Amino acid sequence: MKIALVIGNRPHFIKAAPFLKAMTAYPEMKPFIIHSGQHYDHSMSGAFLEGFNFPPVAENLEVGSGSIGEQTGKILTRLDPVYRRLKPDCVVSMGDTNTTLAASLAAYQLHLPNAHIEAGMRENIWRPEEINKKMADHCADFLFAPIPRAVENLKFEGIEENRIFHTGDITLDTFTANQSAAQSNFKSVCNRFPEIPVEYDLLTLHRAETVDDKDIFMDILQALLGWPRPLVFPVHPRTSKRIDEFGFRREVESSNNIICLPPLGYLDFVSLVVNARQVATDSSGVLKEAFYASKKCIVLDESTEYREIFSLEAAFMAGRTSSSIQQTLNHTESFAFPAITDNPFGTGHAAEEMVKIIRAGL
Ligand code: UD1
Ligand code: UDP
Repeated sequence: MKIALVIGNRPHFIKAAPFLKAMTAYPEMKPFIIHSGQHYDHSMSGAFLEGFNFPPVAENLEVGSGSIGEQTGKILTRLDPVYRRLKPDCVVSMGDTNTTLAASLAAYQLHLPNAHIEAGMRENIWRPEEINKKMADHCADFLFAPIPRAVENLKFEGIEENRIFHTGDITLDTFTANQSAAQSNFKSVCNRFPEIPVEYDLLTLHRAETVDDKDIFMDILQALLGWPRPLVFPVHPRTSKRIDEFGFRREVESSNNIICLPPLGYLDFVSLVVNARQVATDSSGVLKEAFYASKKCIVLDESTEYREIFSLEAAFMAGRTSSSIQQTLNHTESFAFPAITDNPFGTGHAAEEMVKIIRAGL
């Protein structure tokens, strides 16, 4: 049973880790990795393949950066002959990126059974990721929904119930498996980056909607420069590129409170999450990790896939303007992380469930 994992973005490597581990229980399942090459810097790709001890990549499509159409088109074009040659019994894709869409569409066109991890999440707004995940869902035979609302979204779109499986969220598997190693790793991170202060908030920003528009990014930056605590900021390459392009580098680096770091490996990053006072981010993955680590999260965005976290008052939507961010920060500064009795994301064993379902269903 040949299982092709098509991955290519930083969050994919993090989600693929428990899935690959779960397959080791079944020697007849032969996983192999097809890497789209959408992320290619060592800090965005190789560091994770090494950190999680992945098997060697079977195929690297090396698409690199480009417009959405160029990237998606190249992955599709390059995947088709690879699928024909390697003949996987099942293709697995995850999340909502260009790699996800191309992986599942190419599989669908060739009648290859395929699974989509993180199925059914919707924001119902215009975003490249919104159509990527919707199309991936409609191409898939096994739709692994992380939360009950995702199941309802899929049913609402007319997807047959026998294709939908509520498994829990796979990022909780990765987080749970690595939390204590991450905690032990904190000292090493602080030794490597002595600029990390004792008390800090953790910041990430990378969405095109947040950093690609100079005025929006500048307005957000004003709020960050006035933040009441040091902000430790591992900078995504898209964001780093925009900081240079928009001429913000000097302002960011000479600020008293923003501490820029390179993109970090998973254990390093999670160690900063678990030791932060709170988290500020526009990333869905980081929002969930803040929640898993019981850290309050200020979301620098106008919309979310994970409104469950907001309903629990564990995270707060701050918008993308300096004034809305400052208001949210002031309003929530004294709030404590709430007591959570029931984790909507499951128990941290989603990957085992997914692997069992695929094995039984093929
Ligand atoms: C992509 C996904 C986004 C996801 C994110 C995870 C799409 C449409 N977007 O956004 O949903 O949240 O990955 O991190 O698929 N770059 C480098 N080195 C790299 C990778 C990127 O320098 O290894 C720079 C390039 O300048 C590139 C830019 O970052 O143009 C954006 O990269 P891209 O893969 O297009 O989108 P992300 O912002 O990473
Ligand atoms: N992450 C990481 N190093 C960093 C920043 C983030 O390992 O420097 C991890 C983080 O733990 C989370 C994932 O990357 O699991 C989130 O990916 P990203 O923000 O790139 O994308 P999104 O989740 O928004 O798609």
